[in-house]
Amino acid sequence: MGRIIVTGGCGYIGSHTVTLLLDQGHEVLIIDDLSNARQDVVHAIGKITGIVPQFEQVDLSSSEKTKACFIKHQNYDAIIHFAASKAVGESKEKPLEYYKNNLNTLINTVQEGSANGVKNLIFSSSASVYGEVTKTPIEEDDLRHQPVSPYGNTKKIGEEILSDFTFIKKDFNAISLRYFNPIGAHPTALIGESPTGIPNNLLPYITQTASGALPELNVFGDDYPTKDGTAIRDYIHVMDLAEAHVKALNRLLEFKNTRRHEVFNIGSQKGYSVMEVIHAFEKCNKLKLNYKIKSRRAGDIAVLVASTSKAKNDLNWEASFSLEDMVTSAWNWEKSRK
Ligand code: WQD
Repeated sequence: MGRIIVTGGCGYIGSHTVTLLLDQGHEVLIIDDLSNARQDVVHAIGKITGIVPQFEQVDLSSSEKTKACFIKHQNYDAIIHFAASKAVGESKEKPLEYYKNNLNTLINTVQEGSANGVKNLIFSSSASVYGEVTKTPIEEDDLRHQPVSPYGNTKKIGEEILSDFTFIKKDFNAISLRYFNPIGAHPTALIGESPTGIPNNLLPYITQTASGALPELNVFGDDYPTKDGTAIRDYIHVMDLAEAHVKALNRLLEFKNTRRHEVFNIGSQKGYSVMEVIHAFEKCNKLKLNYKIKSRRAGDIAVLVASTSKAKNDLNWEASFSLEDMVTSAWNWEKSRK
């Protein structure tokens, strides 16, 4: 088994991925600046797996601090790089902060990791690299449209940085995973999505409305060209997404990659409308949700669903959890949150 560094490992997808890495016998060091996560997630991971991972609080946007950290922690086999700012709307208000943080953390991590023995990196990319797609399901090579936010641009540029670096650094390998819409929580309800402030994304907004923390869910638009007029997305259980990271990591550790930088869509290939998610949430959790139809949100598109045949063929991975699993686990987590 490997020695793995997980940057942003106290965050939503990072923490769920760490639980599976530990279950598989990997040794894990979490590096997180705690700007958008809490350190008690480390102990929750310990409760779930029986192993408390090593933890370092480091601001990876600082090259000096990153260098010191990787000199201290030599010869890890791989890095899974989650550390980044991820609010699409916020990135439009603070573009320079997003470019600075997301690109500097990646560049510093690749530079200092590779200078201290690391030869493999998994990059947390996003479906937002596809921009305002018109064709769906979307394949990895369909990059006809530009991202519509600075956040999406940082993910697209991040992938290009990895392509250019692996081209010259012949012993360094990378896999970028383009997430669609991760939702849900760990089955133990000991970890889950903890957005700071008012949630931007649908599921945490639903669960906080159901808990009474928020008064009402706004449904952004019911005039899209879809079955019920509300927008369709490819929702994927966070545990399926975590499993995809472990499969991608093992592909690199076992030297099975066929290119030094590979890119995979990670989604469920199933599209659900906002109303279908709401109805599933109400039915599975036996409650009535307070919602109101409002006008469309700027930048939203009608339909975005992944084609994941490449991940199925090359990673031997496909999503297995249902929408019912996702909305039930999300509600169980919300009810357990302190
Ligand atoms: C889903 C649907 C909304 C909130 C974003 C990022 C993407 C990725 C996932 C990081 C849309 C509707 C939402 C609400 C609503 N993140 N909605 N009321 O926009 O598909 O993707 O998160 O990688 O990069 O772009 O996710 O959950 O915000 O919206 O009606 O209060 O729910 O209009 O149709 P999105 P979302």
